[in-house]
Amino acid sequence: MNILVIGGGGREHAITHALAVSESAGDIYVAPGNPGILTIAKKADIDINNFNAVAQFCKANDITLVVVGPEQPLADGMADALTKQGIFVFGPMQKAAMLEASKGFAKDFMAKYKIPTAAYETFDATQKTQAIDFIKANFPVVLKADGLAGGKGVLIPETADEAISQLDEMFGGMFGSASERIVIEEFMEGEEASVFAICDGKDFVTLAPSQDHKRAFDGDLGLNTGGMGAYAPAKVATDEVIAIAHKDIIAPVLEGMKSEGSPYIGCLYAGLMIKDGNPRVVEFNVRFGDPETQAVLAILDADFAGLLDSAAKGKLDKSTIRSVASKSACCVVMASEGYPGKCESGFEINGIEEASNDNLIVYQAGTKDANGKVVSNGGRVLGVTGLGSNLQEAIDKAYIGVKKIDFNNHFYRNDIGKKGL
Ligand code: AMP
Ligand code: GLY
Repeated sequence: MNILVIGGGGREHAITHALAVSESAGDIYVAPGNPGILTIAKKADIDINNFNAVAQFCKANDITLVVVGPEQPLADGMADALTKQGIFVFGPMQKAAMLEASKGFAKDFMAKYKIPTAAYETFDATQKTQAIDFIKANFPVVLKADGLAGGKGVLIPETADEAISQLDEMFGGMFGSASERIVIEEFMEGEEASVFAICDGKDFVTLAPSQDHKRAFDGDLGLNTGGMGAYAPAKVATDEVIAIAHKDIIAPVLEGMKSEGSPYIGCLYAGLMIKDGNPRVVEFNVRFGDPETQAVLAILDADFAGLLDSAAKGKLDKSTIRSVASKSACCVVMASEGYPGKCESGFEINGIEEASNDNLIVYQAGTKDANGKVVSNGGRVLGVTGLGSNLQEAIDKAYIGVKKIDFNNHFYRNDIGKKGL
């Protein structure tokens, strides 16, 4: 089977890598890709926002499965458009993608289907007085822009006064139209884990639980980022926690989406807050996480192409999975100085080949080709992923790899995986 992967970050490099070693994969194409992905896939020269062009490309190249990496094309209806043309898509339809595209929708959906999550209310700018009252009555709280804000739309104020001034800024256009509506919710204590469920509309299977590191600097200091590193499996998500998440979170989402007329096909990312062995939902994403995927797929022993194809066709084949956690993995993100804010890039990257071996995969994220050289291109540049028979070994391998790689203006966290030891 020929496959098209949509996207061009570290997550898509990991997805493409896992597809490329699958027994049921034929030719793999990617759009837009990056230099790392293009060493293992062919370039599809298409505009991914033009769904008709994407469909034409699939037909011309005998592509029967499209795997969508990022949320935006899904929120824009890519799965709906391609499915109509007879192409199978691993990724949900627009209505189901609302679970990520609108936090208000996700919270109302969870309330309707009794899925455990933080108490909340949603407000628009005309309801500022009520929003302020809610903050005062419920502090500590978290403020969330309703719409997609590139992973940045969540603020965690230290005081109620700070929350009220952040509310003003958000309604004032801090996240553009994404913060025209704001979800204010109870601050939850606990430890976080990310769980990816591969869903076929009715049935699902979960991959190894992982843990992200959202803050920019060591010791969870600095701004929230898209993620500075991840490891898997994450012990905080014990078998008991996962069993509860299956029964009380993932199964009800599938049931709920089916009864709303939009069966959920694709990866359902459940961001969990775990306290005293009980998981509650922090957020849903309608795609694989980045950088968690780099760790999760590195230890998945499976015919990944067969798995995603079976899910896309509504007939999940769990026998494609041999082991979800054949080893431990730790992914350390090498980023450009300044990330998650403005950063300078365009610097030549050295050492990727020297660092790579059977236990070290360098996934490329923000890179581009400049006259045959790979240069940095954006905030998160590489996901250096070490494998080991246990987490400590995986961490050690990852940092040995990191130290062999160099480019100007880079930084990384030194404590990825530490919490899991
Ligand atoms: P989100 O984009 O919703 O995942 O939020 C980003 C990050 O903010 C999460 O990964 C958590 O670390 C934190 N966060 C979000 N909601 C809550 C909450 N209700 N309580 C505590 N922390 C939260
Ligand atoms: N690493 C968090 C996310 O992918 O949303």
